[in-house]
Amino acid sequence: MIKSLIAVSALGLSMAGVAGSVYAADVSQAPAKKIMVFYPGTSGMEWILKGTEHGGAKAVKRGEPCIGCHIDENKKMDESAEIGTKILAGEKSKNTALEPNPIKGKPGSIAVNVQASHDDSNLYLRFTWKNTGFNSGNKMDADNPIKLAVMLEAPGTLENDTTGGCWATCHTDVRTMPGVTDDKKTKYVNGASLAEGKFFDLFQYRSGTGQKIDGYIADKRVMEGGTALSEAKGELNGDTWTVNFTRKLSGGAGDVALQPGKEYNFGFAIHDDHTAGRYHYVSFGYTLALDNPQAGVNVVKQ
Ligand code: HEC
Repeated sequence: MIKSLIAVSALGLSMAGVAGSVYAADVSQAPAKKIMVFYPGTSGMEWILKGTEHGGAKAVKRGEPCIGCHIDENKKMDESAEIGTKILAGEKSKNTALEPNPIKGKPGSIAVNVQASHDDSNLYLRFTWKNTGFNSGNKMDADNPIKLAVMLEAPGTLENDTTGGCWATCHTDVRTMPGVTDDKKTKYVNGASLAEGKFFDLFQYRSGTGQKIDGYIADKRVMEGGTALSEAKGELNGDTWTVNFTRKLSGGAGDVALQPGKEYNFGFAIHDDHTAGRYHYVSFGYTLALDNPQAGVNVVKQ
């Protein structure tokens, strides 16, 4: 079993220092929202929008969010787990099997507790979940047992953003998708432009190297250049993973600046079992806002 405790910060705290512990303690008091991440297979945006393949295609084009059909919180209905299991088993959705190489024994989904708080200058995010313990023996990313990435976007700036969350950046011609030989082609969004402020903010924690990555996705994915993320810290304690982020509310190029009350598109992904590329678990698109109970994730003031 891997037991790691890694702290990275702009202040150069290499161990869980005073500041880190205080933040973690506070955000751990914030209300927890359970969000399922599930195995999406090859369900890129082209598949989503192709009417002959996906029942939701028309509605997505009209702006209906994924969770409008796949999750109903009032009825405690959430299809995420079912979808992930079905895809991993190689079962067909209409005409397509969304995982051409089914993976035996891999759980279809992970239930993640998301907690969020803020003060005058920072957003604190805390993710906890039960380690899947799945070991395929195939170390696509030899350095990192797990990675957790978060995406944020100011709504209305990009195509399919409000509706699709991370899906807006996921296409069938990117690396690791079936038949794609280009191993450099990353996620992108049509019509995105960093210069015009149309982009997805992206930040990531990597458990092995302990890196905190602060980048963005526009016409391509860039894993550097952001200045908002000041700390990314993770730990596997027993069978529970905890990942904490400290991120400035303001930001530079490729960072979404968070205004009070305004809802931002929010999604996240977990790579377990040393996976890379599309072999991850992802959430549907939600919203996140500071002190706004309407949002999917309400970031409460400390
Ligand atoms: C109008 C309702 C609706 C919306 C909105 C919608 N879907 Fe679907 N989705 C469906 C239906 C119905 C199916 C079942 C398969 C079918 O008949 O197409 C499905 C199936 C799927 C599947 C395959 C799983 C399976 O059971 O076969 C995935 C993955 C999926 N949707 C993802 C998404 C994502 C991502 C979005 C948002 C970008 C989205 N859906 C938006 C209705 C919707």
